[in-house]
Amino acid sequence: MTDILRMLALCLLLGPMLAQAAALDDLLQQYAAEAQRPFSAEAGKRMWTQTHPSPKGGPDRSCSLCHGEDLSRVGKHARTGKKIDPLAPSVNPERLTDAKHMRKWLKRNCKWVLGRECTAQEKGDFLSYIRSQ
Ligand code: HEC
Repeated sequence: MTDILRMLALCLLLGPMLAQAAALDDLLQQYAAEAQRPFSAEAGKRMWTQTHPSPKGGPDRSCSLCHGEDLSRVGKHARTGKKIDPLAPSVNPERLTDAKHMRKWLKRNCKWVLGRECTAQEKGDFLSYIRSQ
């Protein structure tokens, strides 16, 4: 009986953890189907600080403008000044666990920074970089 209870406890514990890891893997797999080359955290890192002129005449835009260059630290929204929890999964285990959240924000942030949606390649590179932090 205790064995069964122990097994049950283990499943309850591991289930959500595995499901979360799967959300990111699933998303990366979907993007990989449309990408030209394997995803690269290095490429994601390079793009992270690349600046793009603001269409509104404000400061140049980049991912690091809100999230900072050190993903383990709290960011600050460039427009609203609100704090943004660290993106690095190493300090914030809730990161990259929800496919809907990742899709929504990649779409929004790419549009704001690059003036267009990111390609599947770019999204995969960004996620690979963030995941490594
Ligand atoms: C104008 C500010 C701003 C900029 C610039 C910005 N982001 Fe974000 N980002 C946010 C906010 C706000 C959220 C949603 C709140 C949260 O998840 O803490 C978010 C969330 C995310 C998430 C979701 C993380 C998760 O755990 O699901 C990803 C991925 C992300 N951003 C990537 C990027 C990338 C890549 C760029 C550059 C192309 C970028 N962001 C530029 C403000 C910004």
